[in-house]
Amino acid sequence: MELINYTVDDLVLINLPKIQSRSGNITPVQNQIEIPFDIKRIYYLYDIPGGESRGAHGHKQLEQIVVAASGSFDITINDGITERTFSLNRPYIGLYIKPGLWRDLSNFSSGAICLVLASEPYNESDYIRDYDEFLKFKLIK
Ligand code: TYD
Repeated sequence: MELINYTVDDLVLINLPKIQSRSGNITPVQNQIEIPFDIKRIYYLYDIPGGESRGAHGHKQLEQIVVAASGSFDITINDGITERTFSLNRPYIGLYIKPGLWRDLSNFSSGAICLVLASEPYNESDYIRDYDEFLKFKLIK
C-alpha cells in the first residue's frame, strides 16, 4: 500500500508478552517477533509537565510502536479525515502507528513514560510539522 494511504483503520494495538512473577513482571520486545519491523531507534518521553502536549506532527515513512511504559497518556491519531484517540496505560500494550498519520499526545499522568520503538533513525526530513502540509501530503488538500 502507498504510504500516504494509511488511515486510522490501520492502527493496531499489539499485546506484548507479560512474564509475571511474584517479584514483578517482564515485557520483552524482539524484532520481527513481537514487533513487525526492525527497531532502529528507541526513545522515551518523561518528566512531561502537567497539561503539556507533545507530537503534533506526521511522518512520511516512519513506523512506530508507542507504549505507556509507566503511567498513562492519550494519543490521538488523525489521517486527515478521521481521528481516533487511544488511552494508553499498560506497559504491555503497544499502539502500532503506520506512516502518514498525524499524532497528538496529551493528558500525561505524573511520572508517565512514553516509550517509542521506531523503524528508522532520527531524520528531521521525515517529519511533517505543519497540518496543512500534512493534508497536502495525504492529497486531501
Ligand atoms: P519531536 O519528535 O518533535 O518530539 P515530540 O513529538 O515528542 O513532541 O522531537 C523534539 C526534539 O527532539 C526535536 O528537536 C528533535 C529532537 N529529537 C532527536 O534529536 N532525536 C529523536 O530521536 C527524537 C524523537 C527527537
